[in-house]
Amino acid sequence: MITPNQPDALYHSSDRGDKQISATGASLKDWSPSSWRDREALQQPNYEDADELEAALTEIANRPPLVFAGEARSLQAQLANAAAGNAFVLFGGDCAESFAEFRADGVRDTYRVLLQMSIVLMYGAGVPVVKLGRMAGQFAKPRSEDLETIDGVSLPSYRGDNINSSEFTPEARRPDPRRLVRAYDQSCSTLNLLRAFSNGGYASMQRVSKWNLDFMEDREKGQEYRELADRVDAAINFMKACGIDEETTPSMTTTDFFTAHEALHLGYEEKLTRLDSTTEEYYGCSAHFLWCGERTRQPEGAHMEYFRGVSNPIGIKISDKSDGDSVVSLVRTLNPENVPGRITLISRMGAEKLREHLPRLIAAIEAAGLNVLWVTDPMHGNTVKTDNGYKTRPFERVRDEVMAFFEVHEQMGTHPGGVHLEMTGQDVTECTGGTAEVTIGDLELRYLTHCDPRLNASQALELAFLMSNKLAGMKERGAIGKAR
Ligand code: PEP
Ligand code: CO
Repeated sequence: MITPNQPDALYHSSDRGDKQISATGASLKDWSPSSWRDREALQQPNYEDADELEAALTEIANRPPLVFAGEARSLQAQLANAAAGNAFVLFGGDCAESFAEFRADGVRDTYRVLLQMSIVLMYGAGVPVVKLGRMAGQFAKPRSEDLETIDGVSLPSYRGDNINSSEFTPEARRPDPRRLVRAYDQSCSTLNLLRAFSNGGYASMQRVSKWNLDFMEDREKGQEYRELADRVDAAINFMKACGIDEETTPSMTTTDFFTAHEALHLGYEEKLTRLDSTTEEYYGCSAHFLWCGERTRQPEGAHMEYFRGVSNPIGIKISDKSDGDSVVSLVRTLNPENVPGRITLISRMGAEKLREHLPRLIAAIEAAGLNVLWVTDPMHGNTVKTDNGYKTRPFERVRDEVMAFFEVHEQMGTHPGGVHLEMTGQDVTECTGGTAEVTIGDLELRYLTHCDPRLNASQALELAFLMSNKLAGMKERGAIGKAR
């Protein structure tokens, strides 16, 4: 993951720079890492003890940055490449990371599935795949209600392990500022492992392409997947025969891997916002990529104020309810100079709504001449509740939204830049369907998510195979793989 010898972004946010304009053209005259505090901040926990919160935040302010500004810039360049149609972006990981489920094996398994997916996608699309984990910091969750009521008892909603605990007791649901420090520490350990996997040999292509996938075992449907896997293996063997192997070519064993999360808890993000000494720009150093959720992107709100001044690549979630003018205006606020790679628009609509609403949003962005990367999140518009009380997502609906996203972009002549998934390397039963079928009755078997249902390893890989085939067709038609 990027070279370790970039000594920038080590400064603390108190070392105020002189710069008045950010790299993206935003005026920094009235901006500081804490200027969001003058705006209305939605989805923040109500802490009981201000001193306790201050103590935790001070501790975080004194901790090292988790990522370097130079890494975020390198990611931004790769995202710009994807926006131009010359790369594909794969985001994946938990809806919410948890303290209880934190194990090296879990991190490794999700990482391995992401790498396997990226090889399959690279093969189909014929372009590099930029890998981003919803990992090492994806804790805080927006909730539709402040309180949850069960049998007449109301308690604060669960807001993620960095805020409170999911058990339904007053003690567990009390927002505890010490959890922010624990989340920082867990993020640090996770990132350390991800960096080691990326550079220490674990990412080797030969090793990653050892497929052992349930969905391939299905005699009929598995056939097509097995053939594609064989072709990928043959390509790797061919490269080896040509002398491109782990000894001669570092890119066969190492990879870039970046982190991303929803920058929801602004106190935490503020304290990890650091001035980069080489550019005098502010960077959110809690992750390489930060996104703004569907519920917190009010133009005058605190989150937009925060995002405006940091120079990381930024994502904005958009739904079928978004209107073109306001999306254009948000993009302009966050990226006045239209810097490529700075803004990723992540649509999350559901398949049918996407076909109806994405074209008008694409048209608005195109008409305004704005440079954005389009990514689909096929998870959040496809959540349903079963009769037995589980939140789930049918694999087929997730697949349909991804395919609709590709088709709409092809029709519009724009680039489908990537996919944003809630998934895990574990064999959970949270989303129904897929070839290795998970039924509604199976949900109770291994329903482990702390928030939304995730694709399991087999479902995530099956989706990658389907996307790969689709991208291969688009490539043949000239719809991806070169600037259009
Ligand atoms: C999420 O990505 O987990 C999330 C809450 O998404 P959205 O803001 O799109 O609902
Ligand atoms: Co979610």
